[in-house]
Amino acid sequence: MSKLEEIKSGRLPQHLAIIMDGNGRWAKERGKLRVFGHQNGVQAVRQTVETAAKLQIGYLTLYAFSTENWKRPKMEVDTLMRLLVTSLRKELKTLTENNIRLNAIGCVESLPGKAVQELREVIKRTENNDGMTLTLALSYGAREEITSAVKALGTKVKNSIISPEKIDESIINDHLYTRGLPDVDLLIRTSGEYRISNFLLWQIAYAELYFTDVFWPDFNEEHLLEALKSYQNRERRFGKISEQLN
Ligand code: FPP
Repeated sequence: MSKLEEIKSGRLPQHLAIIMDGNGRWAKERGKLRVFGHQNGVQAVRQTVETAAKLQIGYLTLYAFSTENWKRPKMEVDTLMRLLVTSLRKELKTLTENNIRLNAIGCVESLPGKAVQELREVIKRTENNDGMTLTLALSYGAREEITSAVKALGTKVKNSIISPEKIDESIINDHLYTRGLPDVDLLIRTSGEYRISNFLLWQIAYAELYFTDVFWPDFNEEHLLEALKSYQNRERRFGKISEQLN
């Protein structure tokens, strides 16, 4: 049995989220500009998406650009936006062949017009695919997401559309960008940093966390399978004790 088949036969996360980190340092180690790291990060995205689809993981969410990333030098931001547009264009075929539906979360409207247009186009063209849902977090920040959910709920309370007593976790879920997506089961961060960096704060409440020293452009199928193996060896207790789990 191949390692992939072995992992596939075990318990898999329904929702896998990844903080793709280390592109800049990967490039620096090679004496190149940071953008070279981002360019090389694209093939790691492709490989990860294909492997996750092969494993029939239901939901894969990638942190591609945070609200804080706008503060980076303009040249780097422009390159990332260009990469997004060209990758979306190029990968539409891969998405369709693998029955993947594209989704986006974040302040997507704040991206350059071309990126918004391309994103909308690929989302539309993949909307009937019913395999994996690939969500790109773009101009995404969890605190901003929670703030806008609170604002929307506040407005509904003010207009008597909902009473405050009725607000529960499921209603809050419905006001987040991730509405319709299940909670994250496994969160991977590459590059040896042990931080969450404002990613899916609400949705990772009970996620298993996995950190690897590998820089994102080097992250491949082998590394993903290693992370999934570690996930399969963990006991998820959700606040209970071992003896209460069956
Ligand atoms: C973090 O590395 C990575 C990013 C901010 C961008 C991720 C983008 C890609 C992988 C390429 C394009 C993505 C898509 C979906 C087409 P960093 O720059 O923070 O690295 P550092 O910590 O070493 O500086």
